[in-house]
Amino acid sequence: MIDSHAHLNDPAFEQDLAETVSRAQSAGVHTVINVGYDLKSSRRAVELAESFPGLWAVVGLHPHDSRLWTEETGDLIKNMAGHAKVLAIGEAGLDYHYDNSPRDVQRHVFRAQLALGQELDLPVVIHSREAAKDTLDIVSEYPSVPCLLHCYSGSLETARAYEKMGHFFSFGGPITFKNAHKLREVVAGIPLERILLETDCPYLTPHPYRGKRNEPANLPLVAEKLAEIHGCTVEDVVRQTEENTREFFRLVDKEDIQ
Ligand code: NI
Repeated sequence: MIDSHAHLNDPAFEQDLAETVSRAQSAGVHTVINVGYDLKSSRRAVELAESFPGLWAVVGLHPHDSRLWTEETGDLIKNMAGHAKVLAIGEAGLDYHYDNSPRDVQRHVFRAQLALGQELDLPVVIHSREAAKDTLDIVSEYPSVPCLLHCYSGSLETARAYEKMGHFFSFGGPITFKNAHKLREVVAGIPLERILLETDCPYLTPHPYRGKRNEPANLPLVAEKLAEIHGCTVEDVVRQTEENTREFFRLVDKEDIQ
């Protein structure tokens, strides 16, 4: 299976990176897409993709750090995005929960990264927290850019709007949390053809390992829960989510280069 959103580029994995990758492979996670959240982590994601065959990169600036954006940031991301193992721009978006950057700045930088996706013909990976309306409005301004709503936590109604525009959703550890009944209802209402698996490691560790560092080897726990929610087999989930991931990130055209 494919972990569509991981952060092996995070310092949390500095000490045991090779072991973490081999544990992932032993668990059946043959492909991991590492997502940048600032320039340093984006560069690191590209380095990792160069060093390990099953690893790919996404480059961009997280909404938390939007205030650090300059015109040069856009150029640097654009340069990195030209690398053969960079699949998308991200994670970009809006986070009104932490408000680490002013909201108008977050919106400006989100638009700038969607425009970059449009210009470079690359999909965009989106982080959205407590900013459902603004995220949907801004995404709608860029109809030609395929978007992945990572760790989707919005309503089913909003999900329908994204679905109509052809966008995708990824889910991870939170769908396994004991009290996540509402989230599971939303997941049940989204067609499996629109869903990708993710860990968002080192964060969001699935039940029963909450509290420990998360890693791609935990992805089967998410696949099992998704199968349970959708009333299908784990094999169905693995096959369909892999197909979706290849379609969204256009991996089909790129896997030959490895
Ligand atoms: Ni993330």
